[in-house]
Amino acid sequence: MTDNQETPDAEDTTPSGSATLPLRPPCDRLPCHKSSVCSRSYFVVVMVFFHVYIINVIALLFYVHYSSGQEDASRSRDAPSGNHQRPESRRPPSKPEFLRDVSLTRIEGIRVGHVQRVSLVPGKVHEMRTLSLKPLLFEIPGFLSEDECRVVMQLAQLKGLMESQLMVQDGQEELAKELNLSPEEIFNLLDINQDGQLQLHEILTHSRVRDGIWLTPENLREIYAGLKADKDGNDLLSLEEFRLLSNDAFQRFLLQRGVKRSQLVRNSRHTWLYQGKGAHQVLQDIKARVTRLTRLPPTLVDLSEPLQVVRYEEGGHYHAHHDSGPVYPETACTHTRLAANTSTPFETSCRYITVLFYLNSVEGGGETAFPVADNRTYDEVSLIQNDVDLLDTRRNCDKSNLRVKPTKGTAVFWYNYLSDGRGWVGEQDEYALHGGCVVTHGTKWVANKWINIDPDYQRQARYQQLVSQQPEEEDDEGLTLNPDIQSPDIHQDL
Ligand SMILES: *[C@@H]1O[C@H](CO)[C@@H](O)[C@H](O)[C@H]1NC(C)=O
Ligand SMILES: *[C@@H]1O[C@H](CO)[C@@H](O)[C@H](O)[C@H]1NC(C)=O
Repeated sequence: MTDNQETPDAEDTTPSGSATLPLRPPCDRLPCHKSSVCSRSYFVVVMVFFHVYIINVIALLFYVHYSSGQEDASRSRDAPSGNHQRPESRRPPSKPEFLRDVSLTRIEGIRVGHVQRVSLVPGKVHEMRTLSLKPLLFEIPGFLSEDECRVVMQLAQLKGLMESQLMVQDGQEELAKELNLSPEEIFNLLDINQDGQLQLHEILTHSRVRDGIWLTPENLREIYAGLKADKDGNDLLSLEEFRLLSNDAFQRFLLQRGVKRSQLVRNSRHTWLYQGKGAHQVLQDIKARVTRLTRLPPTLVDLSEPLQVVRYEEGGHYHAHHDSGPVYPETACTHTRLAANTSTPFETSCRYITVLFYLNSVEGGGETAFPVADNRTYDEVSLIQNDVDLLDTRRNCDKSNLRVKPTKGTAVFWYNYLSDGRGWVGEQDEYALHGGCVVTHGTKWVANKWINIDPDYQRQARYQQLVSQQPEEEDDEGLTLNPDIQSPDIHQDL
């Protein structure tokens, strides 16, 4: 049509249009050569588009704003101007009321680099910097004083540190035997892309750790060669070749070849320091400060694991791992085992938060690496690519998305679980993968404070009731989400 050659002009008016634009026809200001462009109907069309565009933008903003709750998009799109209800009125009524009084504070990260000032000890203000949002991770310089660092290291030495990992652990094999899996079934489990062959990374993704030994692609090739498993030497195992790699052969090979400490998953010594009544004042102070920092109910912090103190010698490391596992309905938390069904087959430590303290500044290496921090996506399979294993902190710390340098007195802390959106612990945060890079020079001392919370609110509450030794009026059969089971006392404790 005749309009076509004029389209660029017409488009110019739309994106640059500010709020004042609709007040007068664009043709007053624009050079108009053809009457068709300046016609009334053309102006109406442009204005309609313009308004639809603006309404869409407003609707989108509302949608983004409310979709962090459980707002459905349709509602905000329909009535952008009348949509000013408070978020509370939109809470789904189906969920139990008791969750409302016990809401775990989750500190907001805002954005990477954001600094908030926090008051943790009288007469001092600490700065807390957001290091990443996935996981939600913060750094607080000067969290511990020099004296406190020294006392914690001395107390740990007094108590005595033990090897964090023994050289060879048995037991894995038992599990496979119990399941009575055939080589074909195991092969199928490992063959992620189901191409009928096992690539090195497919084996490593599932069994990087073999009897506590960390395997690299080269180790695997060495094992293949030693067992003459990969006959054609192409790094791929066919089912026939895989049959030659029985569990037994694998282990016997590793054992007879001998294992060095540097090949273990972790290469450090540690001990535990109790922080309750009667403990050294410094330890109690640290616990109180952690409670203030995390803004969690003191009881939760009190009932958590003791302080773990770890020493890495030169050459020490800890390959990247999660501090706590995923929690399924049939998984129990170690700390609430008392209140769990004894028939629960799996157990994990349910460490909602990790607070990591650097007790000294390390001369070389020893950074804490977060391989996938703030990665756009997370994909377990791509953790190993082209022989590069991102979890291997002896070799690939430089490829981690984020590394924290150990500085005496600094604390970092992060959430190992997401929120469930209702003020309680949700799913495991897979981005919370982290490890200790190899110490290249000197010794590294750190301490860990874990805050254990059961994602199952009922179990956490029952556990707290048990340890506070309140007489039980209820029979404990009822694990249903019945608010009546919650006595008011539990709310107070939490
Ligand atoms: C404990 O486990 C048994 C068997 O799995 C199940 O029947 C029972 O309901 C469970 N009890 C609780 C309190 O979850
Ligand atoms: C990190 O993000 C990129 C981009 O989305 C993706 O290609 C890569 O696989 C991710 N890495 C991991 C380990 O998930």
